[in-house]
Amino acid sequence: MTKLNPSQNRTTQKGEKAKSGVAQGLRDLFVNELKDIYWAEKELTKAIPKMIKNATSEELVEALTDHLEETKTHVTRLEEVFASIEEKVVAKKCEAMEGLTKEAGEIMEATEKGVVRDAGIILAGQKVEHYEIATYGTLASFARTLGEDEAASLLEETLKEEKAADEKLSEISYSINVDAADEEEFQRSSEATRK
Ligand SMILES: [Fe+2]
Ligand SMILES: [Fe+2]
Repeated sequence: MTKLNPSQNRTTQKGEKAKSGVAQGLRDLFVNELKDIYWAEKELTKAIPKMIKNATSEELVEALTDHLEETKTHVTRLEEVFASIEEKVVAKKCEAMEGLTKEAGEIMEATEKGVVRDAGIILAGQKVEHYEIATYGTLASFARTLGEDEAASLLEETLKEEKAADEKLSEISYSINVDAADEEEFQRSSEATRK
C-alpha cells in the first residue's frame, strides 16, 4: 500500500480545517483502496482461467466461467467508479491478491487433477471472494459516507455478485467434498488390501 499524504487537498481555512481534514483523509483512503482492488480484479482475469483449466467438475467449470465474465465487468465497473468521482483510473499492486492467487497456484500444483484439486480450487476461490466481499462492502460504505452515491451503487452491485459467487462455490463444494472424501476412503482401502 502506498503511503497516504494526509496534507493533500486540505483546506487552509482555519475553521474548516479539522472537519475537512477528516473527510479528505477518508477520501484518500477510499481512492487508494479503489486502485488496489482495480489491480486485484485485473489479476483475477488472468488467474481464474488457470483455475478453469485445472477444474474437473462441470458445475465448477461453469461457475468459474460465469464468474470470469462477471470479473471482467468488475474491472470496467471500477473504471466507472473512478469516472464518477472524477479520479484517474490507476491500478496499484495488491499484495493480498497476489498472495491469494499464488496460493491458488500452489494448491493446484500440490494436488492431483480430480475431486481433490477441485476442492482446493473452491477453497482458493472462496478466499478470494471473501477478500472481495470485505473490500467492496467497506468501499461502498465509504462511498456513501463521502456522499458519492453513484460510486456506492456501482460498488454495491459488484458486492452482490461477489456474495452470489461465494454462495455458489459453497453449494458446489458440498458434493465435491463428499466425493473427495470417498476417493480418499477408496484409496485407503485399496492400500490396505495391497498390504
Ligand atoms: Fe470481482
Ligand atoms: Fe469475485
